[in-house]
Amino acid sequence: MSIVIKTPEQIDGIRKSSKLAGQVLEYIAPFVKEGVDTEYLDDLMRKYMEDHGAIPATLNYNGYPKSSCISLNEVVCHGIPSKETVLKNGDILNIDVTCILDGYFGDTSRMFTVGEVSEEAQDLIDDTLHALNLGIQQVRPGNYLGNIGFAITRFARTRNYGVVYEFCGHGVGIEFHEDPQVDHTARKNSGPRLRPGMTFTIEPMLNLGRPKVVIDEEDGWTATTIDGKLSAQFEHTLLVTETGCEVLTDVRGDYPIS
Ligand code: MF3
Ligand code: CO
Ligand code: CO
Repeated sequence: MSIVIKTPEQIDGIRKSSKLAGQVLEYIAPFVKEGVDTEYLDDLMRKYMEDHGAIPATLNYNGYPKSSCISLNEVVCHGIPSKETVLKNGDILNIDVTCILDGYFGDTSRMFTVGEVSEEAQDLIDDTLHALNLGIQQVRPGNYLGNIGFAITRFARTRNYGVVYEFCGHGVGIEFHEDPQVDHTARKNSGPRLRPGMTFTIEPMLNLGRPKVVIDEEDGWTATTIDGKLSAQFEHTLLVTETGCEVLTDVRGDYPIS
């Protein structure tokens, strides 16, 4: 395996697919409220993707049964949408979607809140977005891939968060998960150097407690914090450009950060 430098034509396709993934999260936002079950949200997102000519990449991916991952509270990632999972006041949740559009993959996730959430939950969410942004600010040609994770972990340590090391960001675009792995706990100046035309995700998961996760034995997917404490995650798909980076899944105009 090696890191694929994308052609301009491939970049165009990945840009479109990434944009759609970002739009899925915008579309679903008003439906995220108390009393709604997560299978309902998943169905709406699947229909939205299909109506826009895309396929949900997670559906049947290594046996995964749904069109999104919806991870509540202590669930770190890969929460399986279900009729039984009903949103309640105070919940925090990550919704993660990946589109396949014209054969190209775009992957993004963000946090949502239900009603009134605790101050520490809101701080965790805000800090996790900040951690992602610190990672994004390391993306430019010539810099080391490892400096992304280094920046994330250096910040997370100042707040005593556990940084999940068992799941990583990843190359994305031609396939769902490509080289390189983007380790959110990497060492300074480690790994390959970034080059224009690379596309990958950054998707830090920060925990209020220990970094360790446990996978549900029954469903084989749901990853929760080992201590049951809250976890948060944000994810974008990025392109390394000649001068820095482009956040391909940004549809809100959040980037570049001024
Ligand atoms: N979208 C997730 C990621 O960011 C992967 C989900 S794979 C699934 O890489 F099978 F769990 F859906
Ligand atoms: Co991803
Ligand atoms: Co994702």
